[in-house]
Amino acid sequence: MTDNNERTPLLKVEHLSKEFPAESGMFAKRFSKRVVSAVNDISFEIYPGETFGLVGESGCGKSTTGRTIMRLTKPTAGKVFFQGKDVAEMSKHEIKDMRREMQFIFQDPYASLNPRMTIGEIVSEPMTIHGVGTKEERIERVRELLDVVGLNPEHINRYPHEFSGGQRQRVGIARAFALKPKLIICDEPVSALDVSIQAQVLNLLKELQDKFGTAYLFIAHDLSVVQHISDRVAVMYLGKMVEVSDWKTLYSEPHHPYTQSLLSAVPVPDPDIQKTRKRIILAGDPPSPLDPPTGCRFHTRCPIAQGICSEKLLSLRKLPRATAARATSPSRSRSRIAHRPVVGCSRPGPPWCCFSERPRTCRKPRCALRAVGLPPPAECSEKQHQGGPCVNAAEGSEIP
Ligand SMILES: Nc1ncnc2c1ncn2[C@@H]1O[C@H](COP(=O)(O)OP(=O)(O)O)[C@@H](O)[C@H]1O
Ligand code: SF4
Ligand SMILES: [Mg+2]
Repeated sequence: MTDNNERTPLLKVEHLSKEFPAESGMFAKRFSKRVVSAVNDISFEIYPGETFGLVGESGCGKSTTGRTIMRLTKPTAGKVFFQGKDVAEMSKHEIKDMRREMQFIFQDPYASLNPRMTIGEIVSEPMTIHGVGTKEERIERVRELLDVVGLNPEHINRYPHEFSGGQRQRVGIARAFALKPKLIICDEPVSALDVSIQAQVLNLLKELQDKFGTAYLFIAHDLSVVQHISDRVAVMYLGKMVEVSDWKTLYSEPHHPYTQSLLSAVPVPDPDIQKTRKRIILAGDPPSPLDPPTGCRFHTRCPIAQGICSEKLLSLRKLPRATAARATSPSRSRSRIAHRPVVGCSRPGPPWCCFSERPRTCRKPRCALRAVGLPPPAECSEKQHQGGPCVNAAEGSEIP
């Protein structure tokens, strides 16, 4: 296993920002002073074959991040490097080549497929645009792809309306894989599907990743969906990235209060544990990206905000080595790829640091909550956990 620190990132995003003019119309771009700050100063890398989850509530800038990386919209500031090359400095021809290596799976399988095209035409379109193979070779490849994504190749001449939502999303996935890309930006690919179908599509994406070694930027608003597929997860709030971590650490030791509140809403499939958990409900509505709060953008809703939080924002900091080492330990990672050191909340140290408020993860081997990858509730103080068995563990349970 190679450490990510020694690998060359496939995609590198540096201080990316995207603002939209608040007013629409011909002169808005030039004269509008008010802007929607959709994405603000975010940085991350994606390594070959890795799944990088991007999660946050609706309107926090996830899709804008994906679209800006793909160069479907120009960034206001910051840089995107794909395979070491600055996308802003690429010629039109190079951008076309880059799009061959970077594909998109859209959220809505109903709106994203052209109803006038057969699924054969839809899946082969990227190959036609990039002049790949002869017509016969393309038809053969489409049949192969339909088979790989679990659709009947005999249905190549059918139209999208003849398929269910899950099948349509499989068509979108087949199309995204047509050119064997290195990176696919999956923009909420399962959020429009029924829960039972969601699992099938997630498993399919995982299988295809294992087969082709494709990296994913996996966008979702639901942490439980991201959990099933991601190697690392970034949490976004109002255009800012507030926490980046390997998935296991994020679920067992969330550092940022916003991540903690999102996680508290994820149900646990054990009614006894579920009963002991406390839901963290954030006060108020998310602020408007037209007028984002000063300092830490989360301060208007943060349960542990201090006066200074509204004054200035400090950059994400790395956690102590011990946590980083735990995150990179092969035994703790389900991924083939080692993870980068974890970065956490933005405060520099006590007394305002979110770290000082982070939930204490129980070190007891028999902790029922740790077994399912969640921190114990507030009542489980260190003291309770030092003596006797975990209060949440069912009597005689087999929790390791
Ligand atoms: N083309 C656009 N023009 C103006 N505002 C936009 C445009 N696209 C997105 N936005 C705004 O940017 C913010 C982030 O949007 P989006 O990236 O779609 O969020 P998400 O995908 O997280 O739901 C939202 O407030 C949205 O209204
Ligand atoms: S404690 Fe302050 S800096 Fe940390 S998340 Fe809350 S408001 Fe932001
Ligand atoms: Mg979106």
